[in-house]
Amino acid sequence: MVREDDSLDVLSVIKREHREVSALFDEAEKCKPGDARVVELAHEIQDRLAAHLSIEERLFYGPLRRRAEEREQEVDMFEAYTEHEVARHLMQMLKTRRKPDERFKAELAVLAESVKHHVQEEESKVFGIAREIMEKAELDAIGEAWEISKRRAVSRSASARNGVRKRPTRRSSRKSTRS
Ligand SMILES: [Fe+2]
Repeated sequence: MVREDDSLDVLSVIKREHREVSALFDEAEKCKPGDARVVELAHEIQDRLAAHLSIEERLFYGPLRRRAEEREQEVDMFEAYTEHEVARHLMQMLKTRRKPDERFKAELAVLAESVKHHVQEEESKVFGIAREIMEKAELDAIGEAWEISKRRAVSRSASARNGVRKRPTRRSSRKSTRS
């Protein structure tokens, strides 16, 4: 039995991932231009962030919007979705093979600023709405589904980067949360 404090509610999971990515951004910021470590960090940020954004939209934003609709409550998620799109766009710039020069560092710094702003808004506004309209049990169930999805996404992404070709798996028939 999991103690209340240790439960994997989705808000705790998201917060933890926000802190992890933020630590990677901090480390990258401290690197000097030319340091190859910046590219490694950018790749790790990109893998984690890409997985985070898509899992979040599917497992958290989606159910949150449905719950709001059921309660006929108006929830404005446009800003959150737009910020996700901005992050994806900025990550595209880092995707290609790049030298860890000043420009690369600047692009990474802009992504870091953008993500930082999004994290602040999400943890205050979006989390506030979720606490108000979602049950604790639902937040816990989404947290568990998140961990499973994340493990799959990270291993897929790492395999793709390392050139390991895996047989594509289709799990679309399996639903992680009620819809
Ligand atoms: Fe987000």
